[in-house]
Amino acid sequence: MHILGIETSCDETAVAVAVDGHDILSNVITSQIDKHALYGGVIPELAAREHLRSIGPAVDYALAAAKVGLKDIDAVAVTHSPGLLPALLVGISYAKGLAAAIDRPVIGINHFLAHIFGAFIDRQELIADPRNFPVLALVVSGGHTALVLIQLDGDCRIVGRTLDDAAGEAFDKGARILNLSYPGGPLIDKMATFGDPEKFQFPRGLLGTSGTRVSAENRLNFSFSGVKTALLYHAKKQGLAGIDSLVTPDSAVKENLANLDPILLDTVASYQEAVVDALTRKTVWAIDDYQPRTLVLCGGVACNSRLRTKIRAAVDARDINLAIAPLEYCTDNAAMIGGLAYYYLCNDSTSQLDLDANPRLGELGSIPIASRSLKGAPA
Ligand code: KG4
Ligand code: ZN
Repeated sequence: MHILGIETSCDETAVAVAVDGHDILSNVITSQIDKHALYGGVIPELAAREHLRSIGPAVDYALAAAKVGLKDIDAVAVTHSPGLLPALLVGISYAKGLAAAIDRPVIGINHFLAHIFGAFIDRQELIADPRNFPVLALVVSGGHTALVLIQLDGDCRIVGRTLDDAAGEAFDKGARILNLSYPGGPLIDKMATFGDPEKFQFPRGLLGTSGTRVSAENRLNFSFSGVKTALLYHAKKQGLAGIDSLVTPDSAVKENLANLDPILLDTVASYQEAVVDALTRKTVWAIDDYQPRTLVLCGGVACNSRLRTKIRAAVDARDINLAIAPLEYCTDNAAMIGGLAYYYLCNDSTSQLDLDANPRLGELGSIPIASRSLKGAPA
């Protein structure tokens, strides 16, 4: 089954051709980051206009790169939720029009669940074996930070979530305070390798490290507003600002990074450590509470090298599988959309042409990836 996946929920116009959920024939991503970087964040209407410009060429390019034509496409999948409303509407309208034109079904996909699936694209053996359930997923992106428990029947339940900023926002807003270019996550990751993560102590939200007990209801929840405020005061005290020359996190500036003010580098490393430490420790608590057989790490922030290392180390000490999404499937992409859609197609769970956008995450419901939740692959 060839599925054309389309993703326009934020600032990437992405199109992919995925076969049977795991064979990714093409994975095209057109980024608008340079347009939004001028404003230090994503502007929804600007994103929609850019999607409109890019989507046609991106579809053509994805088909050509996959060496297939529209006649080979069995279904069109598109992100319908959550995301920026004007941006989602572009992808949905395009997908519905295309599906109608080629007389194929359209499948609306939840972007959040697709991030989780991204960790399984190259590891389908994990979801094929019932013994690898339940799955616990740490989803960390620019819009979301949550711990999700997935049962063998596909039932998904959020067992922990951020009460304020998402982890990606903590990185992006932290970078803004330090006058680093948008998006801050990748740049902080690179800069942190030159700093001392123990130099400054930043607060870890809802971990009880400040002496206040964490309430039972917040045991697996996250909070990143405190660390951000602490960074603001720290930056003022240390007089940190003004490295405008670092416009992009380009590897070309890597040598320059090492030569930056050591206080700035130590600050960045210590800030990253606080965010990563909170994420890792809460994940370990969730593993202890729910005893999953597999841990998934996914979403844009899952690109973070320190987080990948710490999660790996935490899981090494335990007898569970670890599925960290490959870098190309961490940040927004359409391979995860077209890949996950295959499982909906297997269950005859397609959408109608009244498919609508929903900017909010809402109820997760279930994800049909577990072998026991599948009716069977279509012939
Ligand atoms: O999943 P994603 O592409 O978009 C959303 O669905 O939100 O995630 C984007 C987020 C941004 O906040 C970006 O700063 C963060 O992922 N990010 C990183 C890294 N690469 C991307 N954060 C920390 N370290 C990285 N290496
Ligand atoms: Zn995303």
